Amino acid sequence: MIIQPPRLAASAALLLLLLLVFLRCSDETVSTTNGVPAIFVFGDSLVDVGNNNFLRSVARANYYPYGIDFLSGPTGRFSNGRTVIDMFVDMFGIPNAPEFANPNTTGVGILHGVNYASAAAGILDETGRHYGQRYSLSQQVVNFESTLNELRRSMGSWNLSRYLSKSLAFLVFGSNDYINNYLLPELYTSRFRYTPNQFANLLLNRYSRQLLALQSVGLRKFVVAGVGPLGCIPNQRASGAATPGRCVDNVNKMLGAFNEGLRSLVTQLNSQHPESTFVYVNVYAIFGDILNNPDTYGFRVVDTACCGVGLNRGQITCLPLQFPCLYRNEYVFWDAFHPTEAASAILAGRAFRGPPSDSYPINVRQLALI
Ligand SMILES: *[C@@H]1O[C@H](CO)[C@@H](O)[C@H](O)[C@H]1NC(C)=O
Ligand SMILES: *[C@@H]1O[C@H](CO)[C@@H](O)[C@H](O)[C@H]1NC(C)=O
Repeated sequence: MIIQPPRLAASAALLLLLLLVFLRCSDETVSTTNGVPAIFVFGDSLVDVGNNNFLRSVARANYYPYGIDFLSGPTGRFSNGRTVIDMFVDMFGIPNAPEFANPNTTGVGILHGVNYASAAAGILDETGRHYGQRYSLSQQVVNFESTLNELRRSMGSWNLSRYLSKSLAFLVFGSNDYINNYLLPELYTSRFRYTPNQFANLLLNRYSRQLLALQSVGLRKFVVAGVGPLGCIPNQRASGAATPGRCVDNVNKMLGAFNEGLRSLVTQLNSQHPESTFVYVNVYAIFGDILNNPDTYGFRVVDTACCGVGLNRGQITCLPLQFPCLYRNEYVFWDAFHPTEAASAILAGRAFRGPPSDSYPINVRQLALI
């Protein structure tokens, strides 16, 4: 009998490879049995999965080429492909939470969570009103309470409180309170009534109240996203306020008060509510790093949208049937306002397993395992 060393070596290598793949997978996904039963998503177009399709709103993305890289095509996601939430649920190993506004979102369809996010929505009720109907933060909290009533009927109070304490709440708010409110003095009065610091404090007061409302009805694990460097999005670069080739510095600067205040709020809520955990994701720092070091992440274009019209393809957003750029992984921005799937993947990865400078005081993976 002849032993064939090369083949043995090959199968040993294959075995090792399989083992590595297995270890890697088990490290990356959080098992559902002791992990996250459901996610509840509150926010704006960055995480909307189609709620606005059901509202009288012009802020919609349920047409091609939105979703050009998404398995089921255009859905209402403001991206060429997946959003950060799609990536998180894959890491948790659960199905994505369906949109609240869809009448089919009921029964067993809500057991892994519900998505309340609505394009143009803000922390303030009036934010984004020039786009038409939307679910503001406070309306999203009301909508969550109606989901709770249905869950309570199906699982009983005892099981419900355990389920809620293991579930994750994601909140992505603030961008529209600037872009579609404070920075539009021709349509909104906030700029005349508040200094940037006062405005940030107003937002944080309202935000804090709603976080506590969600806490008081049983949620225990919160991921709160800061606002990214909005002065660098194609819409702002094309606004005329930017020096060519630069971001709008005064816009980025005014976001500091909101982001730093949100991080402090998280610290405060963690100490005042030890039964709950609040996590702040430093979206500003992560996107800032991508924009400052695009090569590191394989990006080639940071100032122009992949799809859109006008200066920086940022003056008019991506139109129905418009041809987007070909190499979408090389672009940080998909349209005038939103990141590409490739940029979202960096953000999701760093929020999931990054250091406290990315996700504070712990990362999303650690939060899921509590
Ligand atoms: C609801 O589900 C039915 C059956 O699967 C489907 O035909 C219908 O299109 C769905 N409605 C919406 C609004 O998604
Ligand atoms: C909790 O759920 C389990 C399994 O689904 C069920 O058998 C049990 O009766 C429920 N407990 C309560 C108090 O509702």
